[in-house]
Amino acid sequence: MEEKKQITKGKYAANISSIMEANLRIKPHVLRTPVLTSTSLNAMSGRQLHFKCECLQKCGAFKFRGACNAVFSLHDEEAAKGVITHSSGNHAAALSLAAKLRGIPAFIVVPKTAPTCKVDNVMRYGGHVIFSEDTIKSREETAARVQQETGGILIPSSNDGRIMSGQGTISLEFLEQVPQLDTLVVPISGGGMISGVALAAKSINPAIRILAAEPKGADDAAQSKAAGRIIRLPETNTIADGLKAFLGDCTWPVVRDLVDDVIIVEDSEILKAMKLCFQILKVVVEPSGAIGLAAVLSDSFQKNPAWKDCNNIGIVVSGGNVDLGVLWDSLNKAI
Ligand SMILES: Cc1ncc(COP(=O)(O)O)c(C=O)c1O
Repeated sequence: MEEKKQITKGKYAANISSIMEANLRIKPHVLRTPVLTSTSLNAMSGRQLHFKCECLQKCGAFKFRGACNAVFSLHDEEAAKGVITHSSGNHAAALSLAAKLRGIPAFIVVPKTAPTCKVDNVMRYGGHVIFSEDTIKSREETAARVQQETGGILIPSSNDGRIMSGQGTISLEFLEQVPQLDTLVVPISGGGMISGVALAAKSINPAIRILAAEPKGADDAAQSKAAGRIIRLPETNTIADGLKAFLGDCTWPVVRDLVDDVIIVEDSEILKAMKLCFQILKVVVEPSGAIGLAAVLSDSFQKNPAWKDCNNIGIVVSGGNVDLGVLWDSLNKAI
């Protein structure tokens, strides 16, 4: 009850009202993604697992929800000069498609190391690609230059109330599709998705548990929770290319207050989960999207007495944009 009061008091950059508004705004454009189940994966995990397949969302990732909400909430004058972002992939493609639907340009700063399939997606949706180096500094500087040149509006990939609200619509659908969910497992990077998901889910059911899944080589959220402040790592090293960003001032307060725990996963566990998604669920999932299943199968989750009562677990399978070589490697390398 206390949490519900805090959530509705406007303490955070998004809330249940902004998420419901986002839901109405984006409904004509986004897909209501299916929820899959598998008796084999239930048996492996000892729980009832429900997979919300955002890998089947338009652009292949949940990012389209937030991007659509941000683009369609701009006034005409704001929108006219276009939108800008720097992103290594899914947000970039999502913003390109949302801008295309609104009939405005999208200028996308992409690090040279971004996966080819993600750069191809941006171009397919008509985004103008500007390459930067792979450092946050180079990405930010390049985006600032493009903003000066074009006068466009910067739309961050996660640290933004409009983005958090759009991503929160996942919970509205998921809890309608599977009302008995007692736990949600959500990948975390900049925290835009988990903060929106947590705000909506805990407003609907204050008792629901929200667990973040994070790769060991980019475990800044776990470190931030332990330290009680945002920790940014000097470098990150993981196969999950979508999970290398850090929390921001909009997402951190929600992660600090409403995320119950962070489950850390090895890259080898992510590869194994990608293989299971492909072989058992019959869906193509990128490393960042498979991490929720990896977390639920991990010893750190299975052996933690705090989570033994998590019986109906909703896993957000967040994206499916993977270079075929990486997918192939996951099939060959995973044991
Ligand atoms: C497929 C996928 N999953 C999860 C995330 C993490 O989302 P957030 O940055 O909102 O925490 C991303 C971010 O790019 C992503 O692309």
